[in-house]
Amino acid sequence: MSKLAVITGASRGLGRSLVQEFAACGWDVIAITKSPWAGVDQPGAKAVSLAQWDVRAEPSEELADAVDGRPVDLIINNAAEGAPHAPLGSIDPERVLNSVDVNVAGPLRLVQFLLSNLFAAHDPIIVNVTSRLGSLSAQADGDFAELSTSYAYKISKAAQNMLTVSLAQDLQGKVRCWAVHPGKLTTGMGQVDASKKPCTAARELRELVDSSDRTSPRFCSLGEQDLSW
Ligand SMILES: NC(=O)c1ccc[n+]([C@@H]2O[C@H](COP(=O)([O-])OP(=O)(O)OC[C@H]3O[C@@H](n4cnc5c(N)ncnc54)[C@H](OP(=O)(O)O)[C@@H]3O)[C@@H](O)[C@H]2O)c1
Repeated sequence: MSKLAVITGASRGLGRSLVQEFAACGWDVIAITKSPWAGVDQPGAKAVSLAQWDVRAEPSEELADAVDGRPVDLIINNAAEGAPHAPLGSIDPERVLNSVDVNVAGPLRLVQFLLSNLFAAHDPIIVNVTSRLGSLSAQADGDFAELSTSYAYKISKAAQNMLTVSLAQDLQGKVRCWAVHPGKLTTGMGQVDASKKPCTAARELRELVDSSDRTSPRFCSLGEQDLSW
């Protein structure tokens, strides 16, 4: 039986490339989208099941139907939302809360919902797609001071990293938990100087999952050295 991956944020950008990559490499994939799906037009698409779910809500019945009690070998919490950069006086705290809901509580909801399915798999992995901008140590050193990143994005990605660490400690020896920075991608969320194609990051992430690395928690940067938390 093929391994099963559950991937959020599958409508576009990195999530869409991840669905195509894993399906093309023999995985069954449940592709979760917030809005109605536009289809995967490539070989392997029959291995892809669709489920609509806004990660800010309780997981949908549609998702439960798609999983259908199967062991889940891999969760990729890829869906994310930021907010436009704004001067301190104009930052809307609601936008910060919304990003935390999508980027932190969403992954937690999915892991809780699929915990027994993860435990039923042979060697399960949780990947939380994060950002180098979520590194507290790098931010405290001023490494990204020249980038105008929103409070909402930085705060939510730092919190998501703590979720990864907490999950790894809770699930030690049972489920490997990784925070993965994909690189600067040419996607809707990418910076103006981004040059990495999402399909390249998807291939690198699939290769990482296929590797035998047992480190958990781990803060990876695809194609580069690991990052500090
Ligand atoms: N792009 C980069 O350079 C970069 C760098 C570092 C890290 N990352 C991380 O990589 C991941 C993918 O980013 P991307 O560049 O592919 O972004 P993207 O093109 O903006 O795609 C974001 C995805 O998240 C989904 N999403 C947003 N809110 C959601 C919600 N409430 N429920 C369900 N799905 C939701 C979107 O769905 P809709 O289409 O329905 O809106 C979309 O599929 C993110 O975690 C991001 O933080 C990206």
